[in-house]
Amino acid sequence: MSEKNEDMIVTPWKVSGEVDYDRLIEQFGTQPITENLLERIRKHTGEIHLQLRRRIFFSHRDLDWILDMYEAGKKFVLYTGRGPSGPVHIGHLVPWFFTKHLQDKFDAKLYFQMTDDEKFLMHPEFTLGKVIDLTYDNALDVIAVGFDPEKTFIISDVNHIKTLYKLAIRVAKHVTFSTVRAVFGFEESSNIGMIFFPAIQAVPCFIESMLTGENVPCLIPAAIDQDPYWRMTRDVAPKLGYYKPAQIHCKFMPGLGRGGKMSASMPETCIFTTDPPEVAERKVWNAFTGGKPTLKEQRLEGGDPSICTVFQYFSFFFEEDDKALKELEVRCRSGDIICGECKEKLAERVKRFLSEHQKRREKAKDVINDFFIDDKV
Ligand code: TYM
Repeated sequence: MSEKNEDMIVTPWKVSGEVDYDRLIEQFGTQPITENLLERIRKHTGEIHLQLRRRIFFSHRDLDWILDMYEAGKKFVLYTGRGPSGPVHIGHLVPWFFTKHLQDKFDAKLYFQMTDDEKFLMHPEFTLGKVIDLTYDNALDVIAVGFDPEKTFIISDVNHIKTLYKLAIRVAKHVTFSTVRAVFGFEESSNIGMIFFPAIQAVPCFIESMLTGENVPCLIPAAIDQDPYWRMTRDVAPKLGYYKPAQIHCKFMPGLGRGGKMSASMPETCIFTTDPPEVAERKVWNAFTGGKPTLKEQRLEGGDPSICTVFQYFSFFFEEDDKALKELEVRCRSGDIICGECKEKLAERVKRFLSEHQKRREKAKDVINDFFIDDKV
C-alpha cells in the first residue's frame, strides 16, 4: 500500500488522488524505463510500441534481466489478469493490448488469471455463480484483444484450482499474516479467504516452471496498482527455487470526469467495452476537458491539454500517430481548436473501436473453451 500524501492512494483495490508516478517508482522501489532500455527492446520488436514511446508503460523490475535471458536463448512467459467484478472497461484493455504486442514480438506464452475467487470474497453481495459468469463474460474481451489461442491459457481460480493449489500452498507457507497485513492493509475483520488470496495471485508466475520442470522467467505487464502482489511474490520465489517474476508497469487511463482513474464504480465516466456506441458517444460529450469557460476565452488563451481527459484518450489509445497528437496539443494550446471539435473526433474513434471490438467479442463465444487452461495437473 502506498500513500504519497493525504490524497494519493494506490493499492490493488483503490486508486485515488492525483497519482505521482515518479514518487511511486521511489516508494515501490521500481526502475524507470530509460532510453537505453527502449533501444534494447527496439532490437527485438522493430518499432517501439505506442505505450512505451509515450511512457504509458513507465516503470519496471528486472526487464533488463528478462532481455539478458532472452538474448541468451531463454524464453520467458507472460502473465497478466483480471478481477471479474463487472464489465470490462477500456482502461483494462491498456495493459492487455501491450501484452498482446509482447506475445507477438517475443513469441511468448501467456497465462491470464481471472481472480473470480478474489471478487467473490471481496463483495458480500456476489454469489459464486455471478463471479463465474463474469469470468466467462470478461474472457470474451480478453480473446477479442487477439491473443494467440495456441499460446494463451486463461485460468479461472474457482474452476481451475487443481492447477493452482499445490503452488499456492507452497507460496502461502512463506508468507505470514503480518506481512500481508503490512503489504495489503488487511485488518482483524478481513475474511480469511482474502488473507490467503495473495498466494493465489502469485501462482501463475510459476505455473510454466511447475509444468515444464524447468525454471522459466516470467514477465508481468499490468498497471502499477497490482505491484504489492509482486513485491510479496518476489520475496518468496527464491525460497521455492524459482526466478523472481519481472514486471512492467503502466499508468492508469483516467476516467472521463475530473481526476481519478477509469473505474467501474463511476459508470458515467467510464467506457465499457459493451457500451452501445451511442452511449459511449454521450459519455465522451460529457467529458471533463482543459477548455475555457467561454469560446472567446478559449480562442484567446487556448486550452490546457495536460488536464484534459479527451486529450489523454487520444494519447493512451485513440491517436496512434505521434505527429498528429503533437499537432492536436499545439492547436489546443493556441486556441486554434475547441473542445467540441476534439470531442467529436474522439467520439467517432471510440464508436468505431467499440463496434469492431464488439464484433470480435461475439466471435470469441465460438472459441472461448479453447482458451481455458486444461486443469488436470
Ligand atoms: P483488475 O480487474 O482490477 O484490473 C485488470 C488489469 O487492468 C489494469 N487496470 C488499468 N490499467 C490502465 N488504466 C486503468 N484505469 C486501469 N484499471 C485497471 C490493472 O492493473 C490490471 O492489470 N487482481 C487483479 C487480477 C489479476 C492480475 C494478475 C492483474 C490477477 N493476476 C496479474 C494483472 C496481472 C485485478 O483485480 O485486476
